[in-house]
Amino acid sequence: MSEQITRATVIIDPLTFQRQCLAWQRQGERVGMVPTMGALHEGHLSLVRVCRRHCDRVVVSIFVNPSQFGPGEDFERYPRTLESDVAALDTVGVDAVLAPAPIDMYGPGFSTVVQPAHVAQTLEGQFRPSHYQGVTTVVAKLLNLARADVAVFGQKDYQQLAVIRQMVRELNMPTEILMGETCRESDGLAMSSRNRYLTAEERKRALAISRALFACRDRVRRGERDARELATNLMQELIDGGLDSIDYAVIADGQTLASLDQVGAGAVALVAGHVGKTRLIDNVLLDHAS
Ligand code: PAJ
Repeated sequence: MSEQITRATVIIDPLTFQRQCLAWQRQGERVGMVPTMGALHEGHLSLVRVCRRHCDRVVVSIFVNPSQFGPGEDFERYPRTLESDVAALDTVGVDAVLAPAPIDMYGPGFSTVVQPAHVAQTLEGQFRPSHYQGVTTVVAKLLNLARADVAVFGQKDYQQLAVIRQMVRELNMPTEILMGETCRESDGLAMSSRNRYLTAEERKRALAISRALFACRDRVRRGERDARELATNLMQELIDGGLDSIDYAVIADGQTLASLDQVGAGAVALVAGHVGKTRLIDNVLLDHAS
């Protein structure tokens, strides 16, 4: 099927956006959503393409969600590039873009939150304690606004995907959650809106993350199953590669994200670390059957 290119309508008001999505659904059309915080790159666009394969209408939200940033994190300096984001979305074809201001999403006195599942407490949860509560709350709102039949999230934020899947399942939300693969630069660095913070020198050191993860996956393909050994190697390669600090480098169960002793089906290697002032995360699936 040839890709149909539509110019996106940018909608600021969440309820206007919801009415538009409802109107499409009343015509029998399936609505798919790709939630983002903007500063769009090819990774985001690849999620839009996945979404389009499953839906009649694709909507994208661009909202730098204050409630998922902790004190001292990069909320203020997070890139806001709405105009070029919409231009990028027009190259892949999107039906509507929701781009609200914080006040439109969290009016005065807003106080309802979605408490994320246990899987949110480990890894990112240890270093960004209220992050996932901010994510689950905003994603619940966004999926309700779009009345989404389908929503696509990236493997790049593997734990986020696990947290959202569990929320949708346990709250009986009628949205099917799909995973889009991680898009990488040609040298392996996972695309991220935060990569633009890196200096040229930091960009080179950041490459240690994907290099170490790929090496880990290769070891598993060659038959290594000792997860402690793999985690030790992973950590050492990150240190040798010049990361400034490492928050975690683990081999974990793909669903619970609990650390493993032995690599089994669905295991995943996950890393978070700092290069300069920039915090980066990445992961690879350790599917030894492949
Ligand atoms: P953001 O970081 O903008 O990411 C939006 C979506 O793009 C997420 O599903 C993320 O996993 C995916 N993504 C990011 N980099 C990617 C890459 N290199 N390849 C493929 N997909 C990639 O994640 C968020 O925003 C927010 O937490 C959000 C879910 C929008 C809630 O505020």
